[in-house]
Amino acid sequence: MNIAMTFTRLRIEERMLIEAFDSLGVQVTPVDLRQAVINPMDRGSWGLYDAVIDRSLSLTNTLTSVRMLEAFGIRCFNNSASIHTCSDKLLTSLAMIHEQIPTPQVRVALTAESGLEAIEELGYPAVIKPTVGSWGRLVARVNDRDSAEAILEHRETLGSVQQKVFYIQEHIAKPERDLRVFVVGGEAIAAIARSSEHWVTNTARGAVAQGIEVSDELRDLSLRAVSAVGADLAAVDFLECPERGLLVNEINHSMEFRNSVETTGVDIPQRIAAHVAQYVESTLSQTGVPA
Ligand SMILES: Nc1ncnc2c1ncn2[C@@H]1O[C@H](COP(=O)(O)OP(=O)(O)O)[C@@H](O)[C@H]1O
Ligand SMILES: [Mg+2]
Repeated sequence: MNIAMTFTRLRIEERMLIEAFDSLGVQVTPVDLRQAVINPMDRGSWGLYDAVIDRSLSLTNTLTSVRMLEAFGIRCFNNSASIHTCSDKLLTSLAMIHEQIPTPQVRVALTAESGLEAIEELGYPAVIKPTVGSWGRLVARVNDRDSAEAILEHRETLGSVQQKVFYIQEHIAKPERDLRVFVVGGEAIAAIARSSEHWVTNTARGAVAQGIEVSDELRDLSLRAVSAVGADLAAVDFLECPERGLLVNEINHSMEFRNSVETTGVDIPQRIAAHVAQYVESTLSQTGVPA
């Protein structure tokens, strides 16, 4: 078995994954997407791989490469459809709504004017964020009409095309934390709380992660959420609403786990590597040929 790990930068997570595959005795080949030229008419050396785990930092690189590799018939973790859904907060909301999974109220508007109407409909404070983004970038809490008008005008005038979709959520008065459940191959393997004095609780913004127990409710909701987006490997983020309980805020298709292995006591990269290896092993034994 030979698994490729596509990447654009070898961070701690990617090194941990390589070590995990090594410890299982599974051959993993890191492939730097920055140097790749992919010929859609000839899978060439990609044909050597039984599966690909994508760890690229850039969503464009991820989607471009995974879609092409899937066209060659190579099983990718995650698959491109689930990456597409998870990477877009609006598509994620639609998937949650479709499956009746609790999620914050959201409104979408396409002009600053209707954006203001959407914010006022939800009430202050409201949260406005780009549909595609991470690490808490450009996630803004809007406390009053003045700041609503300012943020909307800035986005409409200065923002990229993408920022002209106004994705507005109700603000959830959560405790000073959010919760994250790591799901691997249909199992909720670990959970953390990310705590911060700032209302934006990304660890990239200084929040501190702490392991928590995976309650039955967290397990049930996170598995339903991951199944709704069709991912194999995902981290599901929850906001704790004082009135409505756990709400799925977003689903991350490429998880960061460097701060979560020690705090949860769960070897997350090992579980990921084992899941991918097990998939390849079972398809090889069923068909005798790579997936
Ligand atoms: N509607 C909301 N109500 C309260 N807090 C929120 C809301 N949306 C986001 N946050 C806070 O901001 C953080 C970043 O928002 P998120 O939607 O996860 O964007 P990103 O993809 O950049 O991480 C969340 O982890 C949470 O702490
Ligand atoms: Mg987030």
